[in-house]
Amino acid sequence: MKKYLIYLLILSCIFVCSCGQKKNQQQGEDAEAEAKMIVSGEKWLDTDGNAINAHGGGILYHDGTYYWYGEYKGDSTYWNPKVPSWECYRTEAGGVSCYSSQNLVDWKFEGVVLPSDTVNESSELHYSNVLERPKVIYNDKTKKFVMWLHVDSHDYAKAAAGVAVCDTPNGKFEYLGSMRPNDAMSRDMTLFKDDDGKAYHFYSSEENKTLYISLLTDDYLKPTGQFTRNFIDQSREAPAVFKQNGKYYILSSGCTAWDPNQAEYAVADSIMGQWKVMGNPCSGKDANITFYGQSTNVLKVEGKKDAYIAMFDKWNKTDLIDSRYIWLPIKFSGDSIDIAWQEKWNINEAFK
Ligand code: GAL
Repeated sequence: MKKYLIYLLILSCIFVCSCGQKKNQQQGEDAEAEAKMIVSGEKWLDTDGNAINAHGGGILYHDGTYYWYGEYKGDSTYWNPKVPSWECYRTEAGGVSCYSSQNLVDWKFEGVVLPSDTVNESSELHYSNVLERPKVIYNDKTKKFVMWLHVDSHDYAKAAAGVAVCDTPNGKFEYLGSMRPNDAMSRDMTLFKDDDGKAYHFYSSEENKTLYISLLTDDYLKPTGQFTRNFIDQSREAPAVFKQNGKYYILSSGCTAWDPNQAEYAVADSIMGQWKVMGNPCSGKDANITFYGQSTNVLKVEGKKDAYIAMFDKWNKTDLIDSRYIWLPIKFSGDSIDIAWQEKWNINEAFK
């Protein structure tokens, strides 16, 4: 009898221990799954535990790694005293940051790949100027990583586009200078590299009223002079361009400085237009103001079919460095797209 009781005790201990282990394992798996969630508007930390500082950004996929380039904002925000007529909130331009990731969730800070100039006040890259919406594409012929960005004076009067190059995605980019492409103003912008290797610069021009699409030279460093004027007098900003199933899509915002407004998308068979306006792609809570966000890029998830992520900035105009990110999956139905609000989601679940 005594022997029997001892056996029972040992068996109970084994049972309790294995239940505890299972619970711990489950908790571990839950925590890991939670860590891989993309959480809208929360503070996103890099792998060192610092807030990701890459606003108005874009993503390049190269050799199995995603590189996220964005505005590296300074930590003090002020209303530019020289521009009292509109809410010209500014922060010191820190240059362009770069983060790398294999899974789009864990981001390693690669450094500031195009630093602002802290000394020379006459430099276009001086921190008192505007350095926004950097995008990088890879040129297969020259083997250079080419960056274009919005380069402006402190009051946004210069309205120019700057170009920088590098031999590696995460090295220090060499700044080549700025221009008004096709002799026209250039503010909010993006780049798009097509399947045939041709690249295009999309930019808000003519006082942000009309969006230009400009074919770049083969080295991607200059405009060819071939361009179209699109969405004339429609005041579209924050362009993000992608291609799916042979169609071109452009996502953009209205023009209300740092404040949110309604997004719009358009579809075309040819990159230079004609574009067919399709309306607001957003749905769900606060869809009429883009979930408090503004488009910056659409990212293709590699290795998965029809897997695209719309990237938005949720600007905090009085503390710009603390602006957040909202990334949401795009759903397709014919030529139509839907970007539905989600507080958090998982890439593997969304794109099976
Ligand atoms: C927005 C633009 C931002 C920034 C801001 C300044 O319209 O999309 O990138 O330039 O204006 O107020």
